[in-house]
Amino acid sequence: MARVSLAQVSRRFGTTAAIESISFEVPDGQFWVLVGPSGCGKSTILRVIAGLDSATAGSVYIGDRQVNQVPARLRDVAMVFQNYALYPHMSVADNLAFGLRMRGGKPAQIQPQIATVASALNIAHLLDRKPGQLSGGQQQRVALGRAIVRQPQVFLLDEPLSNLDAQLRDETRAELKQLHQRFGITTLYVTHDQVEAMTLADQIVVLNQGKIQQIGDPHILYRQPANQMVATFVGNPPMNILPARYDGTAFQIGDQLLPCPLPLQTALKHHTKPAINLGIRPEHLKIVAAEANFDLIATVTVVEPLGREVLVRADITAAADPITVQVWTTPNTKVRLGDRLRLQLDFAHLFGFDPVTGKNLLLA
Ligand SMILES: Nc1ncnc2c1ncn2[C@@H]1O[C@H](COP(=O)(O)OP(=O)(O)OP(=O)(O)O)[C@@H](O)[C@H]1O
Ligand SMILES: [Mg+2]
Repeated sequence: MARVSLAQVSRRFGTTAAIESISFEVPDGQFWVLVGPSGCGKSTILRVIAGLDSATAGSVYIGDRQVNQVPARLRDVAMVFQNYALYPHMSVADNLAFGLRMRGGKPAQIQPQIATVASALNIAHLLDRKPGQLSGGQQQRVALGRAIVRQPQVFLLDEPLSNLDAQLRDETRAELKQLHQRFGITTLYVTHDQVEAMTLADQIVVLNQGKIQQIGDPHILYRQPANQMVATFVGNPPMNILPARYDGTAFQIGDQLLPCPLPLQTALKHHTKPAINLGIRPEHLKIVAAEANFDLIATVTVVEPLGREVLVRADITAAADPITVQVWTTPNTKVRLGDRLRLQLDFAHLFGFDPVTGKNLLLA
């Protein structure tokens, strides 16, 4: 096992930068997750660490060794892709053993290693089958097993579960977590899936357009996003963003006026421009009865019953370009299309972002 560290790593293709000045250090044995929109550079980072692609600037370290000039096969790294490839003519056992045999392992050493990994991944009963006789999820577990049985220093996983259906994905995710707890191999994991990122990660790296937006544990990213991009990317459904005008005492949102509480006025005293983007998560808006105090009024446009909870979409302004919010509520709250909702806002969880830079204005 080894730490992985990147120091100001860039990868350019012609004049465009796939990744730009990326620096972070994954401590030995930790599980880090890379997230961000399509094309933001996630796979490029993994490929540069694996040696399948090379940095055009900066240094890559595995352990204490700078590996920029080290060929991929000598980096002691295992990578698993979304589209894994097993050897179709070999049994599962032989697929798992292949890498070890190539490195000169003796059958007596290889056998117990395969048994351990196969049992951790729930594929022990499939060892005699050929890949064509397995489901997609089982094949994917064999691909993971084949990578991990070598006990590489570093494990790189690029959306390894995205081909699986929801239930298999949940199961395999849990197995991956156990596998990591058991073997403790330093892991970098790319995913589009919020749940995978939040449940697996020691630290999440949020990327956008080739640059790091923020690194933090899942709760920090959720509660203290550095900017509007992180705020709207982490969390599902995303944080509501309400473009507003601010005059030092109140926010104007469309044609509605929202008085700004004193502590918030103090926190915003350095923001002297009138334009501000307010941010509020769907769980921090509450639908209240007609006689109660409320902060905003919104017209219901979509009602989505999701079993335990109901997600309501509503427009705060009726203009051609309405400001839309999403609100969590319970099945007991009767909400119909076209209803005028009275919303209470939890000011303790209200965010303010600079509309130009995206910066979180309430972070010290
Ligand atoms: N060989 C290449 N030649 C030119 N541009 C490339 C090459 N490989 C990647 N890119 C560009 O680099 C950027 C980052 O690509 P990368 O594959 O790392 O994105 P990603 O975050 O993995 O996206 P996705 O979520 O869609 O897999 C993209 O804009 C992509 O078009
Ligand atoms: Mg990718």
